[in-house]
Amino acid sequence: MKKLIGPFTQILPLTGLPLKGSLRDDQLQIITNGWVLVNNDRIVAIGNVERLKAAHPSAQIEEITGPHVLLPGFVDCHTHICFAGSRAKDYAMRIQGKTYLEIAESGGGIWDSVTQTRAADEDTLTELLVQRADRHLADGVTIIEVKSGYGLSVEQELKQLRAIKAASYKTKATLVPTCLAAHIVPKDFNGSQSEYLDHILQNLLPVVKQEGLANRADIFIEKSAFSASSAISYLSKAKAMGFDLTVHADQFTTSGSAVAVNVGAVSADHLEASKDRDIKLLANSNTVAVTLPGASLGLGMPYAPARKLLNAGACLAIASDWNPGSAPMGDLLLQAAVMSAAEKLSNAEVFAGLTYRAAHALRLTNRGTLDIGTPALMQAYPCSDYREILYHQGKLRPLIF
Ligand code: NIG
Ligand code: FE
Repeated sequence: MKKLIGPFTQILPLTGLPLKGSLRDDQLQIITNGWVLVNNDRIVAIGNVERLKAAHPSAQIEEITGPHVLLPGFVDCHTHICFAGSRAKDYAMRIQGKTYLEIAESGGGIWDSVTQTRAADEDTLTELLVQRADRHLADGVTIIEVKSGYGLSVEQELKQLRAIKAASYKTKATLVPTCLAAHIVPKDFNGSQSEYLDHILQNLLPVVKQEGLANRADIFIEKSAFSASSAISYLSKAKAMGFDLTVHADQFTTSGSAVAVNVGAVSADHLEASKDRDIKLLANSNTVAVTLPGASLGLGMPYAPARKLLNAGACLAIASDWNPGSAPMGDLLLQAAVMSAAEKLSNAEVFAGLTYRAAHALRLTNRGTLDIGTPALMQAYPCSDYREILYHQGKLRPLIF
């Protein structure tokens, strides 16, 4: 069915912009007082209402009242929203100054979420995930990557991934699953980190492939999780099995981003601790640098060097990392707006990082722009100038189409 939607005070299609490097606001194409013609949920044309009406007289008119700025829906390319329970106790300890180790030793940390998620059945997990995905969609996030990683056994990881698949039929948001069985070595696994990774490679990833539960594999490279050398071996084998790779890299210490570039990962995510040499490596690669300001806000830690990454020529995306531990807020626009003030990112850089550059991190080539022929994943903010959106730091609420 054809629909003509408008008028929009400004339309920012985010087309024709480079995949990598810094962007100025004057590079943004802005269509003023435009309408969008949609057919069967795809964008057919953007432009002047009289011309579009004349060319498509049968189109149903959907009139928007008041000034609105239209953007592509946001793409959140890094979340952990398939979980049960809460880590409010961790947060209370953290804001009293307790360290990561003290929190883990008192029963908090990732393992606490594993315990709480294992205790929930698949239907409950599915329902919790649908609620979070729907909340994200209402905030303008139309495509959401979702990781497992709170199961950490063959059976429990499969439960999480099956819950993600089930949820994808129950929410209008698009969910992109990722297997993060390599989050940490589970406390109840009897063996070394390389033995655990071999166990995953032999007994989990083939089933994940066979059931079509995910085609992306992630690993947390960190002192408290997996070493760079174990990760290289794991990621190379996962790649040979046909998985796209992504890495939790340089969150507290470096080495992860170099591994990500080395194995040809689609993205290296976190990067709060990245040094100049890591920035250079990422900028000279096809690996997307995914920054996660929500984790910095949740942990009270510095942001990733987003400005330096863009200046060096990297493809920079911004994602929420929404998870029960380090990033419980999950408000992507607020987080991006707040980071942009600290890191000095332009509107164009932030919107690119929330749309087509984030889509690239998920290997979705025709998403995150309002290009002719692409799915009409669109959102409109109640303002007449696109600069109002970041200025209000997440407080403007979008209409979703
Ligand atoms: O991306 N860094 C590792 N994993 C998550 C945190 C998960 C958790 O604390 O439960 C992250 O921040
Ligand atoms: Fe994460």
